[in-house]
Amino acid sequence: MQSWKVFITLFAALVADVDGVDEEKICFPHNFLFGVATAAYQIEGAWNVSGKGPSIWDSLTHDHPERIVDRKNPDVAADSYHLFKKDVQLLVKLGIQFYRFSIAWSRILPNGLANNVNEDGIRYYHELIDELNRNNIQPMVTMYHWDLPQYLQDFGGWTNPMIADYFVDYARVLFQNYGSKVGAWVTFNEPLSFCQEGYGGREAPETIEASGFADYLCAHNVLRAHGMVYRMYEREFKAKLMTSIGITLDFSWRAPSSLLADDIIAAETARQFSIGWFAHAIFSKPGDYPLVMRKRIDTISRIQGFSRSRLPHFTAEEIEMIRGSADFFGLNHYTTYLITKSKKKISSKPSYYADMGGLVSQKSSWPKTNSTWLKVVPWGIRLSLNWIKRAYNNPRIIITENGVSLERGLRDKGRTNYIRDYLKYVHAAITKDNCNVYGYTYWSLMDNYEWLRGFSECFGLYKVDFDSPNKTRTPRMSSEYYGRVSRTKCL
Ligand code: NOJ
Repeated sequence: MQSWKVFITLFAALVADVDGVDEEKICFPHNFLFGVATAAYQIEGAWNVSGKGPSIWDSLTHDHPERIVDRKNPDVAADSYHLFKKDVQLLVKLGIQFYRFSIAWSRILPNGLANNVNEDGIRYYHELIDELNRNNIQPMVTMYHWDLPQYLQDFGGWTNPMIADYFVDYARVLFQNYGSKVGAWVTFNEPLSFCQEGYGGREAPETIEASGFADYLCAHNVLRAHGMVYRMYEREFKAKLMTSIGITLDFSWRAPSSLLADDIIAAETARQFSIGWFAHAIFSKPGDYPLVMRKRIDTISRIQGFSRSRLPHFTAEEIEMIRGSADFFGLNHYTTYLITKSKKKISSKPSYYADMGGLVSQKSSWPKTNSTWLKVVPWGIRLSLNWIKRAYNNPRIIITENGVSLERGLRDKGRTNYIRDYLKYVHAAITKDNCNVYGYTYWSLMDNYEWLRGFSECFGLYKVDFDSPNKTRTPRMSSEYYGRVSRTKCL
């Protein structure tokens, strides 16, 4: 049988065999970890308090409120900067084992550079981390969750090769200060999103709209920065600290829109252009970019009359440095897309999507949520986990985000169903397919600032009343369910 036919048969089986297990009690291994996630810009507020420098998101939300759906900014947001002790108590109530949060780079280094360290920023995260540890909740810390110091964006942001060195300097400050009390570090959150939307489109504040060019430069420097941080950690800290370092990559499953070979191949190419773009260099045996990206972008660049490929090349040393530079694979997964082979002729205008050669859609029958892009497709997570297992020799995976946005109210049956249904497929991936998944993180602990969507989309297990002076947090029904799951490890 041709390999793509084997692929289809296998995946059809993976989708089907979870149905009907409703009646059984589904339990995860007792050492499986449950947690929740947030990010600094989305919950902290205190945007200019005690020496914090502005980030690119501060600039965007202040200068261009018209680009935000509800025209609001998170200058105060959920005010977690002041209310973090209350938030830790919410975590305790949930009974979760770890909390994934991010550090605001410009709270530590106001203009992004390490010659000026903001002591109040250092203090704030010490207090948060100590409070977590005191309550037996492991901190999992993301170094970069999209809030680049504005000063660094002014000279190119992630397209400037020097940024990798600046990021290493920043990471060193973090290891020096918090290394002994943080068990797991995530260098980057969803580089696919911020490179593509920030440098290839208009979905983020970087607004360098150079798809097929600047997005590739961004990814290139992010991968270099990630590898350099990992090697710096090995050289300077590994002997004294007990911690692990990984990266969080977003992978919405890409399914073929039909059983035509063209669409099946286009879907696999789309996977390589999304998850593979970042994961191949770090987790595959040979390292470097996926071959199909290299070939397609080199060829199309040539046809377009460029004298060199728009996809940059790593040096042999860089390939070695990045290859194997992660102790775990952080996976963010929310939804699934369909891919159809594009029949469009190559134009002279560079474009990531033209390079990829697939048209992206979703089935209208898939259940909707409050986010247009997020349709509920629970089986996609099992396929994603299996794909990663096969592509990268079964790495240790922790699901660093999975969640859903629904109405603002408290009776959120849909969220409980979403969590249960996705976890069923995660469980099958572990027990039936031997995927090496050791933890799951719900996004998010509480309602927060959903980037360009402002406060209009609610992902929280806790509802936040952003109009109240105390930013009151109220548990939704789903928080009871998730709390039970995280304590008993059973659905
Ligand atoms: C992924 C991002 O990491 C997070 O910041 C965002 O709020 C959620 N997805 C939901 O869109």
